[in-house]
Amino acid sequence: MRVLFADAVGGSTVTDLEARGHTCVVDAALQAGDLADRVAGFDALVVRSTRVPAAVFEAADRLALVIRAGAGTNTIDTEAAAARGVLVANLPGRNAAAVAELTMGLLLAIDRRIVDGTVDLRAGRWEKKTYSAARGLLGSTMGILGLGAIGLEVAQRARAFGIDVRTLAKPDRSADVAARAEELRIGMVDSLDELLPACDVVSLHLPSTAGTTGLVDEAFLARMRPGAVLLNTSRGDLVDEQALLRALDEHDLRAGLDVYADEPGAGSAAWTSPLAQHPRVVGTHHIGASTQQAQDAIAAGVVELVDAFVQGEA
Ligand code: MLT
Repeated sequence: MRVLFADAVGGSTVTDLEARGHTCVVDAALQAGDLADRVAGFDALVVRSTRVPAAVFEAADRLALVIRAGAGTNTIDTEAAAARGVLVANLPGRNAAAVAELTMGLLLAIDRRIVDGTVDLRAGRWEKKTYSAARGLLGSTMGILGLGAIGLEVAQRARAFGIDVRTLAKPDRSADVAARAEELRIGMVDSLDELLPACDVVSLHLPSTAGTTGLVDEAFLARMRPGAVLLNTSRGDLVDEQALLRALDEHDLRAGLDVYADEPGAGSAAWTSPLAQHPRVVGTHHIGASTQQAQDAIAAGVVELVDAFVQGEA
């Protein structure tokens, strides 16, 4: 196979694929707009942050496989892929621990105001009294929306902090997930109306779909407890950002955000966002999956997917 990498993928992916006789071309500077001009002649495309719009599938002459080196496939026009008979594969679960670690990191940073404290110390200010009113996490309640691989990893870590974890009851949950939820003593409630007012923290771990886009709107935020924390390490478009901005100011909410509705992509860019700059927000650059461990697991997964595809198992 001729494999085009539009983003760098770590580990020994390229050497492993080449050892199997595949040809790899890595062009990590490619942007979504350039991809259509570049895709001809390749059988497989591997992307992490680069978007794959319909134009890429229209321009492709032999593309058979697109691998998203991560869990979400919302950056790929999967309908256009299906129309051209191109298989889109992803790697759910491989970065779950990494995303869960960042989620807890954001929560701790918010509760203990670690970022503000660091800024003060770097500016030479000793402000001990300013930082003496954290709530503390022990005995608090976290609502998790999306009990997949990442949601379960977050729940496990939250339970270790003595947090009471709840989620929405779902009759079609797999037996494995249901058993793990029971093991972690995750409470099940029937509706957002019941969940949101009961939580000190709400953490989002849902994919971006037609059903989840804009889920966190004004009505959702109004049902959260004043002073509660919203964590989003999943997808930016789950949140109505204007509504969240208002709720930060008017409803005393705080937020830990790794994702935004309009992200610039993988490289460096000038970018401002009123949310990311808001003093009640602790933000990171969509780096949930950016640990060595997670990227090594993803890299191994890319090789496994190419193998499976070649063997007709994908
Ligand atoms: C994912 O979908 O798993 C993440 O967005 C991956 C990433 O940012 O690398």
